[in-house]
Amino acid sequence: MEHLDFAIELAREAGGVLKHYMNREKHIEFKGRANLVTVADRESEAVIIRRIRERYPSHAILAEESGASSGSDAKWIIDPLDGTTNFAHQYPFFCVSIGFEQSGRLLCGAVYDPWRDEMFSAGRGIGAFVNGERIHVSEAVKLSDALIMTGFPYGVREKMEAVLEQFRAFLFESQGVRRGGSAALDLCYMAHGRVDGFWEVDLHPWDTAAGVVILEEAGGRVTDFSGGPFSVYGKQIVASNGRIHDEMMAVLANLK
Ligand code: IPD
Ligand code: CA
Ligand code: CA
Repeated sequence: MEHLDFAIELAREAGGVLKHYMNREKHIEFKGRANLVTVADRESEAVIIRRIRERYPSHAILAEESGASSGSDAKWIIDPLDGTTNFAHQYPFFCVSIGFEQSGRLLCGAVYDPWRDEMFSAGRGIGAFVNGERIHVSEAVKLSDALIMTGFPYGVREKMEAVLEQFRAFLFESQGVRRGGSAALDLCYMAHGRVDGFWEVDLHPWDTAAGVVILEEAGGRVTDFSGGPFSVYGKQIVASNGRIHDEMMAVLANLK
């Protein structure tokens, strides 16, 4: 699959940029009170965009740091560094995420963790992989046996009560809750069966585009909080191995 192979190639190249800067001066700037951007975010994104422009000049691009540029109905959705706060603190849980959408449908994606050299990838109908090996979601059937991941939006201070309510409810009902700091990797860890469920609010298309294809191809389920279809342009995500999905939605429904 041409676009998938290209996404993998780009993610690996951009991952090299992140690894290069991991133990070096990162020139941290602030986009908001706790929303950082570093030289590595910018360089990684520049490499990816340059290569897409060379290879597919007519394609549209949606990238976190430089925004949207229009083109054909083929669109690359890019997070050049997902997990910037982790990265800035030398906490090794971050990645590059590249998704490819055609006519509004996510077709393939690659998420690369340069620290562990793990390349997660998937294409519609061909399955999900880590470093070329097929991966599948976990078999947990009960929320009480499940390990759940989540994240907190940068605007958490404006919705502290709602976010903590959700956190409290899942902490109570599950076996444990983790806050990884990279939504794209959270989704891939679920695809790999390392965790069983994930929920978050206010993510952006670049956080989820690649990870959602990878999770679905690994057998997972992704919806909004009420079980409606998930959109990368929406504000809610509940993702799971499928088996605990209804229980997760019930937890969220009870909070409303
Ligand atoms: C963030 C990470 C984090 C999530 C935040 C995202 P960034 O992306 O995915 O896990 O909780 O909501 O914004 O800023 O590191 O690319
Ligand atoms: Ca992100
Ligand atoms: Ca980012």
